[in-house]
Amino acid sequence: MSSNRKTVIAGNWKMNSGIEEGVNLCKEIISNLPTTDAEIIVCPPHTHLYAVSTVLKNSSVSLGAQNVHKQEKGAFTGDVSAKMVAETGAEWVIVGHSERRQYYGETGADIREKILMAQESGMGAIFCVGERIHEREAGVYLEVITRQINEVLDKRIDFSKLIIAYEPVWSIGTGKTASPSQANEVHMHIRQCVAFLASTKISEEVRILYGGSMKPDNAESLLTEEHVDGGLIGGASLNATSFCGIISHA
Ligand code: PGA
Repeated sequence: MSSNRKTVIAGNWKMNSGIEEGVNLCKEIISNLPTTDAEIIVCPPHTHLYAVSTVLKNSSVSLGAQNVHKQEKGAFTGDVSAKMVAETGAEWVIVGHSERRQYYGETGADIREKILMAQESGMGAIFCVGERIHEREAGVYLEVITRQINEVLDKRIDFSKLIIAYEPVWSIGTGKTASPSQANEVHMHIRQCVAFLASTKISEEVRILYGGSMKPDNAESLLTEEHVDGGLIGGASLNATSFCGIISHA
């Protein structure tokens, strides 16, 4: 990680925990939070956002959501708009997660609209990219990442309200982590893509997180890589001890 970029540790709870459980988890995180300069974000399910935001008030932990709809409002039964999410106190939203791409068929165009909608509503977006196992094995992973970046990021994106997360699909929830050098190689590549699309200055400022089976015992080696500016944590963010353990390395 570079001293110029503020480290981010974000927890993606996915579809786990009840509201009370989530509130208690946040209380435990706050009371055990190691001294850190890192920005800490928790992303609970939508139903928990408001309750969790009241717990996080006056703490140094920020709130994020896991999804927003790409349209501003309208007849989209069961969906939640970016403005609604922002009203709960959420400052961030995860977009482009591989589970959303895989199970809901989200495309690059959908992801771009969601980022724009989140940013228009005053939130920042945590934009996820990552290759599948066959793409890594075929040696085409950098091409896959380039495509995922190029089909989403354009001139309308506010890069000051954007975090990119590299999450190799083969490492998510599998216990298989990218090695620090594998992660750093892709992060450096992402920075080059951003330099090409935006500017060298923006590429040096944008924060790039690693996600995929990050745990307290592998966090330090990943987080000390030059281009790794933090982590997007799934499983290990559901437990205050392991989440705070990761934060202690940030
Ligand atoms: P994991 O999930 O840490 O459980 O692998 C990461 C993610 O999907 O964001």
